[in-house]
Amino acid sequence: MTLAERFAPAVRGLRGSVTAPADKSISHRAALFAAMGTAPVRIEGYLRAADTLATLDAVAALGADVKREADAVVVTGVGLRGAREPGRVIDVQNSGTLLRLLPGWLAGQQERSFSLDGDESIRRRPVDRIAIPLARMGARIEATDGRHAPLTVHGGRLKGIEYRPAVASAQVKSAVLLAGLLADGPTSVIEPAASRDHTERMMLGIGVDLRRDGASTTVRPAEVVELDALRVPGDPSSAAFLIAAATLIDGSAVRILNVAANWTRTGFIEIARRMGAAIDGAIEAPGSPLSAEEPTTTLEITGAALRGVVVEPAEIAQAIDELPLVALLGCFAEGDTVVRGAQELRVKETDRIATVVEGLGALGAAIEATDDGFVVHGSGGLRGGVLRSHGDHRLAMLGAIAGLCSREGVEVVGLEAAAVSYPGFVDDLELLSG
Ligand code: S3P
Repeated sequence: MTLAERFAPAVRGLRGSVTAPADKSISHRAALFAAMGTAPVRIEGYLRAADTLATLDAVAALGADVKREADAVVVTGVGLRGAREPGRVIDVQNSGTLLRLLPGWLAGQQERSFSLDGDESIRRRPVDRIAIPLARMGARIEATDGRHAPLTVHGGRLKGIEYRPAVASAQVKSAVLLAGLLADGPTSVIEPAASRDHTERMMLGIGVDLRRDGASTTVRPAEVVELDALRVPGDPSSAAFLIAAATLIDGSAVRILNVAANWTRTGFIEIARRMGAAIDGAIEAPGSPLSAEEPTTTLEITGAALRGVVVEPAEIAQAIDELPLVALLGCFAEGDTVVRGAQELRVKETDRIATVVEGLGALGAAIEATDDGFVVHGSGGLRGGVLRSHGDHRLAMLGAIAGLCSREGVEVVGLEAAAVSYPGFVDDLELLSG
């Protein structure tokens, strides 16, 4: 069944405090690193959403023991070189991050093979971006048409490489760095622009020899990796939906607790502030040196009038998942909002240039797609109507927020997709709506 729900225009400003749901990217990585060790690792606040539960199932299929407690999961791993053949296909469901990161580890499991597959959307997402560097390192990867799931990773003896991915992708960087742990020498990734660095921070935290020098990150092979207990901070990408709502709804005063403030994730806050959003709270300075820490912050947002801005290619990787919300803010801003250099949006859960333009266009927005982004002509508001999520969690949540801010409300078709990353989304909106 495809759930449809109507989000009526807010009758008053959003008010109150919520704790941001746990970060999806950090949850995935915590489960994977825990699985690479042998001692039990307690991961507090692990995100219980479809994507990250798929990662727990995957590591369990590889031989890790996974215990779910009330506010934590405890993963006891199989060791860096000890992943077992599961005897079945690993189902990544809708998770592009699991699809791209896990093969990095599996590539170094010598004389073992692993098959991965997922849902219909996953089968459209490119994996050649990881298959090419992992093959250069010494693994054999069979992908459908050379570039899609289902794919099989045949682990091999890996050699260290220097790799320059064409796109700024944390998933590609992470896959290569994970494989680098199992290689015979140093492995470097030289990124065209800085992407999220949770993998690097976690590696530093567990004592891996990893260095960043400008755009280049180099990891040296490890004998063992043992992750300490950790607490997953709140997800800035989920918080962004509440930030947008509080910004656009007059009279709002919203506090969001425990938001990860890692500068590689806070591009949306920077862009929204440039548009005029009133977001109080300290975030890490852009370009801060690499450290093991994942800082957190409390954000306080009040309603504000916005102006259009240009988002440049160099800013894209740090706001990639929030660009649909930049489009929404643009609808309410004075003047045009232009997003450039965001062609990566075309290979997300949906083609997010097409689905955002279609979705917001159906609600009355003056928005046009370009090859590498979109242009929104701000009109100070949004009529409302019906938005289809196409099974994409961020589209579903975009529709809900658009409804609260619109004149006539929005019916979101396929709202259940939100559970991929933010299961308590509607509850949090209800709480803030009072
Ligand atoms: C993610 C990286 C991003 C992002 C995705 C999560 C990660 O993808 O869009 O939601 O956890 O590494 P790319 O690195 O491919 O842009």
